[in-house]
Amino acid sequence: MKHQPDGSHSSTRPRSGEALRSRAAALRAASAAAALALLALTACSGGEADPASAGASASPSPSPAPTRATGKRDELTVVDTAHIPGLKEQTSTEKLEGGVEAELSYPRIPKAGPFADRLAEITEQEARDFAGVEKGAKSYSVDWQVSAAGGNVLGVRLIQREKDDDGERTGYSTYWYNTESGRTSYSTELLAGQRQLEKFDRMVKKRLKDTGSVDTASLHPIAELYDSIGFNPDGDMVVEFDEGEIAPAKKGRVRAVVPKKQVEPLLSPFGQRAQKAAVTVTPEFAIDTAASAPKDGPPEGSVPGTFATAGDDVDCHDPDSKCIALTFDDGPGARTPELLDALAEHDAKATFFLTGGPVREHPETVRREYAEGHELANHTVHHPDLTSLGHDAVAEELETVTELVRRETGYSMDLMRPPYGATDGGVAEVTEKLGQAQILWSIDTNDWRDHDAGLVSDRAVERARPGSIVLMHDIHGTTVDAVPEILKRLSDKGYTMVTVSQLLGETEPGRKYLNGHPKQPEASPSAGPSD
Ligand code: NI
Repeated sequence: MKHQPDGSHSSTRPRSGEALRSRAAALRAASAAAALALLALTACSGGEADPASAGASASPSPSPAPTRATGKRDELTVVDTAHIPGLKEQTSTEKLEGGVEAELSYPRIPKAGPFADRLAEITEQEARDFAGVEKGAKSYSVDWQVSAAGGNVLGVRLIQREKDDDGERTGYSTYWYNTESGRTSYSTELLAGQRQLEKFDRMVKKRLKDTGSVDTASLHPIAELYDSIGFNPDGDMVVEFDEGEIAPAKKGRVRAVVPKKQVEPLLSPFGQRAQKAAVTVTPEFAIDTAASAPKDGPPEGSVPGTFATAGDDVDCHDPDSKCIALTFDDGPGARTPELLDALAEHDAKATFFLTGGPVREHPETVRREYAEGHELANHTVHHPDLTSLGHDAVAEELETVTELVRRETGYSMDLMRPPYGATDGGVAEVTEKLGQAQILWSIDTNDWRDHDAGLVSDRAVERARPGSIVLMHDIHGTTVDAVPEILKRLSDKGYTMVTVSQLLGETEPGRKYLNGHPKQPEASPSAGPSD
């Protein structure tokens, strides 16, 4: 069984140096008291009574007053854990697929159990994805810092170190927790919505443009790339990118600071609270009431930088609708970006059935496909005839591509297409287990055989019916050449070009789909090496 750790151990221990930190906290509290005294003195010298300090002195057990956070301008605020009584570090060590050593640490804070549980889930999945896809993967470790603890907000920054044959890279992600709702948020939820994330993305690109080594064209407003956002002690927004993500790994971590004046209009109400928490030191952070974990996550696509593949902007089940799903297999290819330009020009959506090698070769194209609202789907790592493989090998072929794509986009694919359209009961069983529906096709353009753009476009357009699924391959230049003509002619005929999930609505894992119209007779995929 893949991904089964063969040895696992978990422990909770006080963060090392806790005693030291407590002493530091005592010192800090003393200096905070001194600052307060100074403040009171200043107020008195003005000759006015200060009702706030009068109230505080009347209170039976005054808790230390908050002070301003300090730290580096180009870093997220770091909270001294001595300010969070009862914080414990949770560490687990595991042996993953291929003997990869994983050591995962994260903080457990009193009455914030759902946060620690979510951080455990996230770090475990990321460790497994790394072990599943990286050739020569050796080890994976996660360390952490607290980036905010105040009001009803906690922020935790995770630092991931990956070691493989290429060396060592460090990645970063920051998660935010609402102590009242029990919900853990992605970094992009500090921003009010997708439009605000896009604005922020433009500000960041402008700041990174002149650094030379950064390829801003590979940066897109998606949650997987914008996964470590927070605030510096002044309240400016800081975003950081993993080593090797948008610049060569040897250039190290890439980060940008956007001044608070520019970023404040873009913040969500939760983002405003997180900002306040990051600029303030709460001497003794405590949560009054423990929240339970929310039952459901946010609806698909509601988190800025994530997208619903079955977006509700078009209803393909409406009998008057004319939906058609264009699908492109075996890519991405070198000319897929041109194809994406053409789709964007016609406001058309498509589905890309991705294979392993091309995803590794063109990760930035995969991110762009996702960022522009197209659907990503699984077409196996090596493109084998799945009916000739055992269950474990079929699962491995599919899971590796799922993990590769999730590492680039954060998206977990739920559609697959068996190479050559070759499927049987065994493939159905495995895909059902993996939560993926099998998508075949109703129109075969045979573009892999006939490298003739005119012919490909005629076949796609002349056979089109509402509900059709059209098979093409974006690795052939003649197909890329055919697409603008196909889009123009289908638009003229009143078709809406949609993703497969928009066409079919909810799909059943393991089930085989040939087209999206209940009244259309099912065409069987042509035999031969078509796909
Ligand atoms: Ni194929």
